[in-house]
Amino acid sequence: MSDAPLIKRGSELVLKIESLAYGGMGLARESNFVIFVKQAIPGQKVLVRVYKKRRGYAEARVIKLLNESPNAIDVCCNHYWICSKLQSLSYSEQLKEKSAQVEDAFNRIGGFHDFKLEKVRPAKNIYHYRNKMEFTFSPNRWVLASEPEGVDRSFALGLHIPGRFDKILDIKNCHIQPEIGNKILSLTREVCLKHSELRPYDPRSHIGFLRFLMIRYGINTGNLMVNLVTSYHDINKISPLTDALLENFPEITSLVNNVNTRKADVAFGEYETLLFGESFIREKIDDLTFEISANSFFQTNTFQGEILYEEVKNLIGLKGDEIVYDLYCGTGTIALFLSKNAKTVYGFEVIRSALDDAEKNADINDISNVHFIKANLDTYFKSGQLPKRIPKPDVIVVDPPRAGLHKDMSSYLPKLKAKKIVYISCNPTTQARDAKILFENGYEITRSVMVDMFPHTPHIEMVLLFSK
Ligand SMILES: C[S@@+](CC[C@H](N)C(=O)[O-])C[C@H]1O[C@@H](n2cnc3c(N)ncnc32)[C@H](O)[C@@H]1O
Repeated sequence: MSDAPLIKRGSELVLKIESLAYGGMGLARESNFVIFVKQAIPGQKVLVRVYKKRRGYAEARVIKLLNESPNAIDVCCNHYWICSKLQSLSYSEQLKEKSAQVEDAFNRIGGFHDFKLEKVRPAKNIYHYRNKMEFTFSPNRWVLASEPEGVDRSFALGLHIPGRFDKILDIKNCHIQPEIGNKILSLTREVCLKHSELRPYDPRSHIGFLRFLMIRYGINTGNLMVNLVTSYHDINKISPLTDALLENFPEITSLVNNVNTRKADVAFGEYETLLFGESFIREKIDDLTFEISANSFFQTNTFQGEILYEEVKNLIGLKGDEIVYDLYCGTGTIALFLSKNAKTVYGFEVIRSALDDAEKNADINDISNVHFIKANLDTYFKSGQLPKRIPKPDVIVVDPPRAGLHKDMSSYLPKLKAKKIVYISCNPTTQARDAKILFENGYEITRSVMVDMFPHTPHIEMVLLFSK
């Protein structure tokens, strides 16, 4: 990368977009200097204005599209730039670009110069696939440049404008959630606009009542949860909305009200009131049933989640007599999925409520060879907390959060001496970093699969098998 002194903030340039950078921005070069361009796709020729200049790169916005990309397609969502940034690029090109990003990360960060992705599992459904959506209520609607001056901006129910905690774009039609979600969204908006006491919560003044509308779908069971997150408890106040939802949507099997009195902008409640039905939805993966409550983690793409777990199972090839550790097990889905083909599976996780769900799901499915252990995996193994009664693993599955493995964890992992390690990751850059440590300690990457969990978004899900 060379520096280009002529490029500065405010510069206007004509660029040809070469590829997609990790995170979803278009990547172009001017005299070998890298420029990331917002909302641009490979193959486009664009006039851009630079809004950020750093030593090794710049960032720019498109002012004018000069030539369209041969791989451009029509978009479904008029707000695709918020969450489905890649929607204007054909699906096959999205997968090619994501594969190239993975190979680049393993080459550049991991030092695996001949790394090639072995397999890509595309999504069967590239729209309406998300089984959970969270929409935010706001008294600060984001006004589009195309709207007339003086329009009312006092109510929105939708998604955050990237980088703005206090501005919400009103969403009328979200194409990545099931269709019924859009009807729920419309009715909720309609009722709130009719009832002035249903005031959206303002994250700046901390005044207001309604914070989030969360919708959760049991894709394989037809169950449907609506979770209204409010800033305080007031059943009378919320009742025009809950009555209307129950009257219009007999599909709802769970209606809950989570109360978040804290300033933190999260849909996670400190306590929950069950207003109708059950406090969870059921979902099926393979022949397993899971009960998922409002605050539990579950893969947000059920179809692809199933494929992900299938790939994990196939990569490991269990014979039935193995001890398996499922590290960062969340609600234990992988541990339960593998239990049929293993001797014993131990799931490790830091969140108590996730472990409670995992245990409940083991009971529901009548599985007794799985045990869940509360552990902060950053330091758990290194500080010698693993009880002696737990046997050493033959196989380890790790599925850490985006930040990847803590350095004490990655350096200790080889000392557990498993024959196989399956590493699932939603961030190829941290996975490549950790893969390097495993490689230096005698493990080779023997299989690599990308499962596309999130079509149209820049997110990537990887599964690697390491063998000794
Ligand atoms: C990507 S999720 C794993 C999901 C799970 N494997 C599944 O498929 O449902 C990562 C999990 O790691 C847990 N986690 C994060 N940091 C942790 C830590 N330091 N120790 C243990 N678990 C942690 C999170 O609570 C979360 O459940």
